[in-house]
Amino acid sequence: MTKISVRPIRRDEIGEFAATGTDPKRIDDVTQYVEQMMKQGSIHREWCFVAVQGNRWVGRIAYWTLPKSGKPHAPVLLDLPWEQEQYLSIGAQLLQETLPLMRELGADQIGYVVDTPPMSPQWQRFPQERMKLLDHIGFRVERVTDRFEWQGEKSGLPGTVKLHFRPLPEVGEAAFIEAIMRVSEQTLDRRIRDERQQEGAWTQARLMYTDMQHMTYDPSWWQLAYGKDGELIGLVMPAQNPTYPVIGYIGVVPEQRGRGYIDTLLNQGTVILHRGGADAIRADTDVENSPMARAFRRAGYIRFAKRYEYSLVLR
Ligand SMILES: CC(C)(COP(=O)(O)OP(=O)(O)OC[C@H]1O[C@@H](n2cnc3c(N)ncnc32)[C@H](O)[C@@H]1OP(=O)(O)O)[C@@H](O)C(=O)NCCC(=O)NCCS
Repeated sequence: MTKISVRPIRRDEIGEFAATGTDPKRIDDVTQYVEQMMKQGSIHREWCFVAVQGNRWVGRIAYWTLPKSGKPHAPVLLDLPWEQEQYLSIGAQLLQETLPLMRELGADQIGYVVDTPPMSPQWQRFPQERMKLLDHIGFRVERVTDRFEWQGEKSGLPGTVKLHFRPLPEVGEAAFIEAIMRVSEQTLDRRIRDERQQEGAWTQARLMYTDMQHMTYDPSWWQLAYGKDGELIGLVMPAQNPTYPVIGYIGVVPEQRGRGYIDTLLNQGTVILHRGGADAIRADTDVENSPMARAFRRAGYIRFAKRYEYSLVLR
């Protein structure tokens, strides 16, 4: 096999990069995604690499982040000659040569998501081959989620109980972090449960709050909900990620679960984003979190995909 080399792309190669390995029907969509991500600072040209064999491009990868984070977070647009056996060795080289560069840029952990079925904007085909490559490199599955989308007026909203909402600027950060810690107790979400065990409940809540701050949001969108006697019921944290408005986090404190309060919280988060101009809102929940999935369905959210969330610690 002719030797493969890996290099970052040049400024005039962005179009070719978007087309490499992309289903020909999707090239415009992928090109638009690359341009939009570069404009928003989620992808930098120096973070886009190609695998070159002779004078042919046989693979590509870009690293993505939330614009305010500053360090690479996860590869996107990974494409390889998936139908040929050599995809595994080319993919391994592409990752093994570029991951250390991401480590130098400050990433101590790298994620990767596989969405099925393939969809805009990445159109990830060949999920089994992707997963085989990730396993081979040492990535581990952290969580599997169902992905939901609310599609504007036509989705409607469930009728809800009245709660008193107080926004972040009024309650302050300490109360908010405390509330994240409370609602995460006995969660059915595997990632949050594992992180609580590793970091401790309060640190996990603080890290989650800090991570969420890397998204775009108005502080008044993040709200705590109280009952009529001033007791804490739960929280909702709507936000905007680089591609979609999302329900970033939502939850009910353990002693208030099973009373349908989640419908009121989800309604509030959906309305906040919808009033801010969103007509499609996305949210993911662990495949084991059936109370949450049922609440999404009641609020008119439609399940559109399954997501495998991988992670690799960089040493
Ligand atoms: C998922 C969650 C928001 C549901 O809120 P809720 O207000 O209890 O929802 P519902 O009133 O519809 O209750 C659904 C049922 O699931 C049960 N349930 C809810 N969470 C549960 C949990 N963590 N473990 C076991 N059972 C749970 C409730 O007791 C209730 O049972 P019932 O119908 O027999 O009374 C809430 O459990 C929660 O905050 N979990 C932790 C945080 C979380 O997972 N957030 C979602 C992240 S995407």
